[in-house]
Order: sequence, then structure tokens, then C-alpha cells
Amino acid sequence: MHIFYGKAALTDYLKSIKTSNFTIGFVPTMGALHQGHLSLMQQSMQENQATVVSIFVNPTQFNNPEDLAKYPRTIDEDIQKMTDLSPEIILYAPTVEDIYEGQTVSQSFDFDGLENQMEGKFRPGHFNGVGTIVKRLFEIVEPTNAYFGEKDFQQLQIVKKMVAKNDLKVNVIGCPIYREPNKLAMSSRNTLLSPKEKEEASIIYKTLIEANSKFQKNSAAAVTNWVQKSFENNPDFKLEYFQIADEATLLPCLRKNKNKNYRAFIAVFVNNIRLIDTISLN
Ligand code: PAJ
Repeated sequence: MHIFYGKAALTDYLKSIKTSNFTIGFVPTMGALHQGHLSLMQQSMQENQATVVSIFVNPTQFNNPEDLAKYPRTIDEDIQKMTDLSPEIILYAPTVEDIYEGQTVSQSFDFDGLENQMEGKFRPGHFNGVGTIVKRLFEIVEPTNAYFGEKDFQQLQIVKKMVAKNDLKVNVIGCPIYREPNKLAMSSRNTLLSPKEKEEASIIYKTLIEANSKFQKNSAAAVTNWVQKSFENNPDFKLEYFQIADEATLLPCLRKNKNKNYRAFIAVFVNNIRLIDTISLN
């Protein structure tokens, strides 16, 4: 493993290994790595000569200080998992100072309204923080291809928008959601769940599957209503939002249009742990 804690050493190293037609794959993460993260790295390694992974718990994308404080940090285990996957991986694990240079604030972005839906509504400032860090990391790593999970589908669309609007030279590649055996979407936050909560949280994906089948014959409003009712009857979970939206604009589906692709999005609290998931409805 090649490990860098500072951007100067990382960029020097990348310069030293670059040859003509050399492609760099990049997988930005906040660590507490799981199989979902590793699947992104695997795809990057298949498609590029070198793969850079970043581990950085980005303070500017947390609107809730408590959430930032309790975010799992497991750098030693993370390094072990990456070494087991491939000793060739290049890890960039910067400090807050190395990234923000004393100015730990977000830039303000216009994502054409993508930022006003769902996660953007419930986590004010979150996507400005994501835009700020991803842009900064792209400037440092200068990747050819960057890999993002569809688990955070809104984030994926926002990063694509930022790249298009700023004319950045990077291909943003969406990767499928990796799930636990009980189909709960893998997430670093799952480590905060008790075994019982983790088992019960399989209801989230079951609800999405059922919503998909209901959406084939019913309106988005009717399906949303059904999801809300089913969570009202379940005291162990608190539904934050369920939204059926156009994949491209993320605007809620008011009337079905067969030329559009739709997706269901859900955010649920289990105890105080916030979990999100999504499914394509086509
Ligand atoms: P993090 O939550 O660590 O996720 C890093 C990447 O892994 C994201 O692209 C996310 O969508 C992907 N990912 C997470 N769980 C996944 C799963 N079960 N299957 C497939 N991919 C999965 O997302 C972030 O970090 C941050 O916002 C970041 C982009 C690094 C900016 O700070």
C-alpha cells in the first residue's frame, strides 16, 4: 500500500508514475470501509492503471455536529481491508488542515435545483459541503475516472452536475448498491446498529421492492401514502422522507410520464441512526 497524508507527497508520487495514456481511477470515501466501498475500488482497478482512494471525514458536509462526532473512524482496519484487496492501491488520508488550509467552509454551488430535494431539504448545506470536498479532491488527484455509489444517488447526480457545469475533465461513473445478506444497503453507519436493529432494518429494502411493484399500477401519491402508513404502524422506525422522483431532475413525480425514468428514495431513522436507500422503478 502507498499511503499519503499530505497532498504534496501524493501529487509528486502520481506525477512519478504517470506515463502516456495512463488512467487514474479515484474512489472518494469517508472510511469505515465495507464491501460497498471495496466494490467501487475493484471496478476502478479493473478499468484503470492506478487507483487512488481517499479517506476523509469531511466536516463541511455534516449539518449535525453530533453526527460528525459519532461517525465511525477505523483507519487501521480500513488500511488492512485495502491491503487485502490490493497492495497497489494508493491511499490519500489527509488531515483537515491539508484539505482546507485553515478555511473549513463550504463553497456555494448551484446544482440546478438537484440540491433542494430530499437529502438537501433535510440536511441543509450538505451538498455544498460535498461539492466543496469532491471538487478539491478532483483538483488534487486529477483522476481520469471517479467512482460513486448509486446508494447516494442524489450525490451521484450532484457530482455529475458539478463536473458538467465546471467543465472538469473527469468521467463520473455510477456503481450498483452493494447489500448485506438481508438486503440492507451497506453503509458505514450500519456498524452503529445493534444486531437486532440491523436485522429489522431489512424492512427498508422490502418496502422499496413493494413500492416498486405498487408503482406499476398506482400513482406516486398513492404509493407514498402507503409507505407513510406502513411506517406509522412501526414504532421502531421513524420515516424522514419517501419520495418518488424523476431520476434526471430529482423532482417529485406528480403525474407519470412514460418517457421518464423514476426512482424511489427513502430516509429512515432506526433509533438515532439515519439510513438511506433507493431503487429504480423501471
Ligand atoms: P461514503 O459514505 O464513505 O461513501 C463513499 C462512496 O461509497 C460513495 O460514492 C457511496 O455512494 C459509496 N457507497 C456507500 N455505500 C455503498 C454501497 N452499499 N454500495 C455501493 N456503493 C456504496 O459518500 C461519501 O462517503 C462522501 O459524501 C464523499 C463522496 C466521500 C465526500 O466526502
